[in-house]
Amino acid sequence: MANIKRIIIVALLMLSQATISKAEDGHALWLRNHSAVNVNISSTTRSAFVDLATDELKKGWLGKENMSIKLNLSKNPAIKGDGFQLEESAINARTELGLLYGAYELLRRQYLNLPQRNFISNPAYSRRILNHWDNLDGTIERGYAGSSIFWGNAANGLDITNQDREKWKAYARANASVGINGAVLNNVNASAKILTRAYLEKVKAIAESLRPYGIKTYLSVNFSSPVLIGKLKKADPLDPQVKQWWKDKAAEIYKLIPDFGGFLVKANSEGQPGPQDYGRTHVDGANMLADALAPFDGIVMWRAFVYNPSPEDRTKQAYKEFLPLDGAFKKNVILQVKNGPLDFQPREPFSPLFGAMSKTPVMPEFQITQEYLGASKQLVFLSTLWEECLNSDTYKNGKGSTVAACTDGSLSKTDFTAIAGVANIGNDVNWTGHTFAQANWYAFGRLAWNNKLESKTIAEEWIKQTFLDDKEKKTDANFVKTTQEIMLESREAAVDYMMPLGLHHIFAEGHHYGPAPWFSNDKIRADWTSVYYHKADTVGIGFDRSRGGSDAVDQYHEPLSSTFNNLSSCPEMYLLWFHHVPWSYRLKNGKDLWTELCIRYDHGVQKVRSFQKDWDKMKGSIDSERFAEVQSKLRTQSRDAQIWKDACLLYFQQFSRREIPFEIERPVHDLQSLKELTKSKDYN
Ligand code: GCU
Repeated sequence: MANIKRIIIVALLMLSQATISKAEDGHALWLRNHSAVNVNISSTTRSAFVDLATDELKKGWLGKENMSIKLNLSKNPAIKGDGFQLEESAINARTELGLLYGAYELLRRQYLNLPQRNFISNPAYSRRILNHWDNLDGTIERGYAGSSIFWGNAANGLDITNQDREKWKAYARANASVGINGAVLNNVNASAKILTRAYLEKVKAIAESLRPYGIKTYLSVNFSSPVLIGKLKKADPLDPQVKQWWKDKAAEIYKLIPDFGGFLVKANSEGQPGPQDYGRTHVDGANMLADALAPFDGIVMWRAFVYNPSPEDRTKQAYKEFLPLDGAFKKNVILQVKNGPLDFQPREPFSPLFGAMSKTPVMPEFQITQEYLGASKQLVFLSTLWEECLNSDTYKNGKGSTVAACTDGSLSKTDFTAIAGVANIGNDVNWTGHTFAQANWYAFGRLAWNNKLESKTIAEEWIKQTFLDDKEKKTDANFVKTTQEIMLESREAAVDYMMPLGLHHIFAEGHHYGPAPWFSNDKIRADWTSVYYHKADTVGIGFDRSRGGSDAVDQYHEPLSSTFNNLSSCPEMYLLWFHHVPWSYRLKNGKDLWTELCIRYDHGVQKVRSFQKDWDKMKGSIDSERFAEVQSKLRTQSRDAQIWKDACLLYFQQFSRREIPFEIERPVHDLQSLKELTKSKDYN
């Protein structure tokens, strides 16, 4: 009797503990398990995708018990690509993959308690691709979440364990749940080894794990591969032997991976080889690869991130290089353009190439990994940054020619459209290092599917799926609202404590985490130093890109070029991007530039402090593991925001020669000690 009693007590204890605190390590992302109810799924077609969709619906169903849902292939012309239609008791799609996407959307809507209305959802871009900057030794360039999930480990990175396959499957499922359908498996600074047989065999194995979820595999290729692994003397794109080498290589790849997506190429950029090494153009290079891939429907994503050590303003160079080539690329080539003309800064105006190319498809490249936005130490929700870019008006065909419209095929029809995000995924248990960095992966997928989605919607969706339990708790509404506000304000806060008013690239050298506005070095190219970008002197601060300066403004269409050109009409968020502005210059709020700069830096710091306070109040609303992790990271972020503010204000004060306004908090560090600190290898 006593024994039975004890067993009952232990069982009750275990049960209550399970309901009070569920251990959460973040591995399940936004796809956490919950108790589903019974549902009947039927389908008019059988395939692996349909089986998967059926399985997901059964595992996750929260709707009416014993309801019947039909998966139906439909010819409805309003459904495009892998889009779908949700009806009361059916999912209709043109493709089987569309049925899987429909299943994920239905489950998401149930989880979020959204009305079960009928609607059609089509993807904005046909190719929605993650770019992994993963090296074959398992390290990740600009990766902050552990080692590569694809490469490295033992046996020269080529062995494959069951654990690997499980991880790739979970990765593919997470991607499919938000509509991502492609992955470039290796770094754009590509090792030629990726195209050797042994590595291609591994790519084949990875492709097999990703394929069931509709993810196509792509590779970054080194332009010198024919020399580096093919024993040819040169990689000249017009050389018949070189052309043949690539044709043979493409045939070999497609034999192993029949649905291979294509190549991503970083050529003649930051020391990478390219067609210009042989006096040829980007067109010659891209078209040669395009010819090799065309028989198999493969594509070439040619990166526009090129600049040379020349006196020309670095931000102008890609446009000058590629505009004359417009129209000369083969049909299966697309130009991959970073959101801004420089390099993934906390804020940049959009790249003028989006509005410039009229006969060449262009795809946006966003950076999900937080190279310039606090790595995985800082909570910075990037959806607002991407939304700002996508909604920017290029005026290409008059008003309303947004970056979204210039790239998603709505302004001009192209065979295919695409969008890329540089992934923030690694072997860390929670995939992304910071729990909130998962939101950036999620947001990229959602925006790639629907480039009109608002960040506030994306944040709410993510928070509810990532943190809440099935049954709404009293505190949930408050938790969702508070967390959503933190996320939506986080990027602007980072801009304020790092580089307000259009400042850019004043990062510490190499790691790009902390501040180093003082960084200059005669031995390296000027456009890799901070002083090149801020140009602070006793008169003022900022890079003059007006017509009197580098004239970058004229790479934009009117009326934008004039708007940017005139100091008085230039949006203040881009002020020091386009102008060298006197310290005494009056801003729209009547404050002088120096005072406003101080206020912005301080405001950024105060914002992070308020995020800390708000987060601390959330204790008990979610599992203690993730609560504590975020709490601790917000402490680091607060510390580092203060370092940014102190470093920049104390450094720029040497030029402005003005007091830091007495109404704001004083610096707490000395300039000299910050110079030492941010140089140290441990500070990143
Ligand atoms: C940045 C980044 C590099 C990367 C490069 C690129 O400069 O710091 O690590 O290789 O972008 O996008 O090619």
